[in-house]
Amino acid sequence: MTLQVIVGAQWGDEGKGRIVDWFAAQARYAARFNGGDNAGHTVTVGQRVFKLHLIPSGILQPHIVGILGNGMVVNPQTLVEEMDMLAGNGIPISPARLHLSYAAQLITPAHNALDRALESGRGKDNIGTTGRGIGPAYTDKAARSGLRAVDMLAPDFCEHLGDHVAETNRTLGLHGAPHLDPAPICNQFRLLAEHLKPYITDTAAELDAALRAGQNVLAEGAQGTLLDIDHGTYPFVTSSNTTAPGALTGLGLGLTAAREARVSGVVKAFQTRVGSGPFPTEVSGELADRLRGSGKNPWDEFGTTTGRPRRVGWLDGVLLRYATRLNGLTELVITKLDILTGLDPLRVCVAYKTGQETLTDLPFGPADLHLYEPVYEDLPGWTEDLGTIRDWEDLPAAARGYLERLEHLTGVPVTLASVGPEREQVVEKR
Ligand code: GDP
Ligand code: IMO
Ligand code: MG
Repeated sequence: MTLQVIVGAQWGDEGKGRIVDWFAAQARYAARFNGGDNAGHTVTVGQRVFKLHLIPSGILQPHIVGILGNGMVVNPQTLVEEMDMLAGNGIPISPARLHLSYAAQLITPAHNALDRALESGRGKDNIGTTGRGIGPAYTDKAARSGLRAVDMLAPDFCEHLGDHVAETNRTLGLHGAPHLDPAPICNQFRLLAEHLKPYITDTAAELDAALRAGQNVLAEGAQGTLLDIDHGTYPFVTSSNTTAPGALTGLGLGLTAAREARVSGVVKAFQTRVGSGPFPTEVSGELADRLRGSGKNPWDEFGTTTGRPRRVGWLDGVLLRYATRLNGLTELVITKLDILTGLDPLRVCVAYKTGQETLTDLPFGPADLHLYEPVYEDLPGWTEDLGTIRDWEDLPAAARGYLERLEHLTGVPVTLASVGPEREQVVEKR
């Protein structure tokens, strides 16, 4: 009945995984529509911390059917490892509850090697990719030479794979990188194809039928709005559409497939970024160490996929308003509110300054961000530990004031705030 698209409103790692897990309690399907194993989505259930790269986070709820949509780039090796990891932790994985779109693109070791070669060729101007072959796989898709999940069903799959490795070897050679031997890759992929065959289906038709039959579908975004290939801080972006409309093309759904649409923007209570690119509200020194954490806690700001320390800063309200418009957000979900406890004042960027001019909207979206200086508004902080709070009214007045300021900046209500990484550490505004 309802299509609920859950997207990151910043530069990724907003806590989408745990929010999808929360909403999955009320849904039938959870579907990834973009990206690949560059994503790292964490869900904490009791003592167990699940880090998911490809399989939708909703899969941890037993009634959910997980979908890997056509908009994804899927490394079959990572997928099989993740299926095994989940099964080993008592999460049932079978063709009855996990479906891979026949039209999803495949990532091969050749894509991984090319991603690394291209990054090292960029030198100090590197993008800081995750090295997971994402860019090269989407490049092949756009060039119409990519391998798709459905190709794994064909008897001549290994020949096509061999051609792809040979072709990529030519490009690797241009970048001075060593060639890959196609034979072991073909052997590896023959086994992976055998394993994955029963999971490959027409997921677009399935999701359309589910929505028409009145079921709830969650679309789980990967990365974040500011990493969108069209609308992000290009060229420091990923290679897919991370914004909510990407859920339609990335799942093969028509504009009118759902009777109701809900677009939830997940917003970390401060700002983080991993990899290169502009970040106007970035902070350094003691404050950065405080926001990032030392790395001792599983929720500290170190990459879920690569372990890299994340850059940190104050919440950027100008970019948040941009994300609200681009995604057509109907609500904000704020995560990691607990991390702000003890900081006073809390700063929020409400405008940018350039020369004598003050701007609240940017002339070219997030292009040229390096030209602007943030204008901050200081808000009062709070000292209370939020971790055990479950009722909105029990949040300190200053915390509610902070959330209300975000509502005012964006014109969109905050419906949920998380106050710790645990599944239940969520405060709902009823
Ligand atoms: P995603 O990629 O958007 O799913 O986010 P990540 O999993 O990469 O990063 C979010 C991190 O913050 C994970 O370690 C989560 O367990 C953690 N986290 C999420 N929500 C909260 C919260 O409200 N408080 C705290 N302390 N940690 C949180
Ligand atoms: P989740 O889904 C944060 C960043 C990389 C790099 C840029 C391009 O966990 O929020 P890529 O490997 O995609 O070509 O890298 O995008 N990036 C992410 N940053 N969270 C992610 O995913 C990311 N996926 C990619 O750091 O700057
Ligand atoms: Mg992440």
